Amino acid sequence: MAELQRQYLKAMGIDVWQRRDLPVVEVPQSQPVTVPQVSESAAIIANSEPSTAPTADVSTMEWGALQRAVSTCERCSLHSTRTQTVFGVGDKQASLMIIGEAPGGDEDRQGEPFVGRAGQLLNEMLRAIGFKRDQVYIANILKCRPPHNRDPKVDEVNCCDPYLKRQITLVQPAAVLAVGRIAAQNLLKSSERIGVLRGREHQLPGTKIPLIATYHPAYLLRSPIEKRKAWQDLQQVHALITDKI
Ligand code: URA
Repeated sequence: MAELQRQYLKAMGIDVWQRRDLPVVEVPQSQPVTVPQVSESAAIIANSEPSTAPTADVSTMEWGALQRAVSTCERCSLHSTRTQTVFGVGDKQASLMIIGEAPGGDEDRQGEPFVGRAGQLLNEMLRAIGFKRDQVYIANILKCRPPHNRDPKVDEVNCCDPYLKRQITLVQPAAVLAVGRIAAQNLLKSSERIGVLRGREHQLPGTKIPLIATYHPAYLLRSPIEKRKAWQDLQQVHALITDKI
C-alpha cells in the first residue's frame, strides 16, 4: 500500500492492516496534499426553484449583504429557538464546497458549521484528501438549528434555499460534497437513501457542478465500518477537482 494512501486512511481513523511477516511501517503525522484551487467557474446555479421565501434580492447579494440577511432572518419559526445563525465558513473561492444538514448544539452556540465531534471527523476526512478546513467552503442546508436536532421541515428548507443557492453561486465550486442523507436528498431533489445516492457522480440540479454524496460524519462516528465507503467517495470528489485543473 502506498505511503500516501496509508496516511489518508490513518487520518480518517481507518485501521491499516498489514501482514505480520512484513516489516511494520511507522505512519508519520500526515502532511496535507496540496490541491491547487480552481478559479474557473463550474456553473452558475439556476434560480428556478419555487420557494416560500422572496428570492429576488438574495439572488443578487454580495457576501456582506448575504451574511447580514441571514443573521437577521426570521423567515421561518427556527429564528425563535436559535442562539444565532450559522452562515458558513471557509475559502469563498474554494474549489470544493461541503454542504451539510443543519447546525447542531455546538454550531448554534459557536456560530460556525461543523465544530462538534462530527466536525472533527469532517476535518480529518478533508485532510485525507489534502484539504485543510480553511481551504474549502462549508455550509448547511439550514442556517438555524432545528430544536433537538430534528430533521429539517420542508418549509424551513425552502426558506433557507435562496441563501444556500447564493452561496453556491458566489463560491462557484468545482465540486460539491453533500454530507448526509438530508443534504444529499435536498440538493438532488431525491428521496433515495444515502446508500443509493453515494458512490456515483451527480450534477447539482440547474448547474454543471458535479456533486458527490457521502455519509454524514456523525453517522460515521456511530458506524465506523462505513468509513471505507466514505473514503471511496472522498477519492471520487478529489479526482473530480484535480481533473479540472
Ligand atoms: N451536522 C451538520 O450537518 N452540520 C453542522 O454544521 C453540524 C453537524
